[in-house]
Amino acid sequence: INWKGDLEQVDDVLIIGGGVIGLSLARELHRLGAGPIAVVERGKVGREASFAAAGMLAPNAENEIIDDFYRLCDGSRSMFPIFADELRAETEIDIELDRTGTLYAAFSEADSHHLDLRFSRQIAAGIPVTRLSAKETLAMEPRLSASVRESLYFPNDWQVENRKLLAALEKYARGNGIEIVDETSVDELVVEGTRAIGVATGERKLFSQVTVLATGAWTSLIKMGNVRVPLTVRPIRGQMVSFGPLERILRHVIYSPRGYLVPRADGRILAGATVEDVGFDCSVTVNAANELKLNACEIASDLTDIDVAENWAGLRPFAADGSPIIGPMPGMDGLFVATAHYRNGILLAPMTAKILAERIINKTDSLYFKLFGPERFLNKLNANA
Ligand code: GLY
Repeated sequence: INWKGDLEQVDDVLIIGGGVIGLSLARELHRLGAGPIAVVERGKVGREASFAAAGMLAPNAENEIIDDFYRLCDGSRSMFPIFADELRAETEIDIELDRTGTLYAAFSEADSHHLDLRFSRQIAAGIPVTRLSAKETLAMEPRLSASVRESLYFPNDWQVENRKLLAALEKYARGNGIEIVDETSVDELVVEGTRAIGVATGERKLFSQVTVLATGAWTSLIKMGNVRVPLTVRPIRGQMVSFGPLERILRHVIYSPRGYLVPRADGRILAGATVEDVGFDCSVTVNAANELKLNACEIASDLTDIDVAENWAGLRPFAADGSPIIGPMPGMDGLFVATAHYRNGILLAPMTAKILAERIINKTDSLYFKLFGPERFLNKLNANA
């Protein structure tokens, strides 16, 4: 790191936001041979939405058509086996990629009807899915509630232990000279004409050739010169609960139409999640914990007598169309965006890191920048003006 006077620091790439997206990008940039890289984080790295997540890699269970969004998500999912192997070799941390697959189960007549529709749409779209009877479902997952009527099985929908993924990415950064500037809130981007040249954080300025906004739910709070960054990203709270560690009773990630269970290797079972538009409020509520427990017990009635061990919440970053915002910022040289990953931050981390790092280092464009770049919102602003 190159110091310019007491209060100014110069980096080649400054990433604002030390969540799974910012840290994955820092790693990928380093692997591609970027110069100095710094990650500026308002709290502790990896402790916000990425930490609160459940680590499901579920593009198939959560989609009914194969469109660009599906391709982005499924492409990123397919990167996980190599991502996990590389991280293990680099950091000796196992991110617990579990490829057992995901079940989507029905517990009522209405659920069965919903599954019928889903299955026929997914089959028509070409999504890899198998329909299982109650007997077949219980053969795969014997500790599911006996009231299960049927299920859909998604062999390509996996999970990772997202907290271990964050630990691995942080270890990679710290072991490879990527500077982590934590407890440092970025107030504004420093702009010179049509070029972003760094950030201002209180008294201090950090200069860079390239600046990346990986700021999740906080993206819209950052100023660009005298105006706010022209992207609207809202926080959408997700509350979770966990049970255990228990003797391992489940193997698959299991959805019902009302919630999901994620069984971890250490015997914990995570249950999620609420979707709440409550601003920057990360607190947990008794009502949500009760509802999450109820939904969890419907899926696996063995949980009825087990107390909730932990509950927590995170803020998903949501853009108006629910899709991520990834790509260069039009009209502002040196500025890139990687935010609004909403329900898919863990899933989309390797693909986001790959396409942005290749753009930053090799100037290689990606079709995904056209589809998911910031431009789609800027055009709308111009059209409305
Ligand atoms: N991807 C799971 C959730 O956001 O609840």
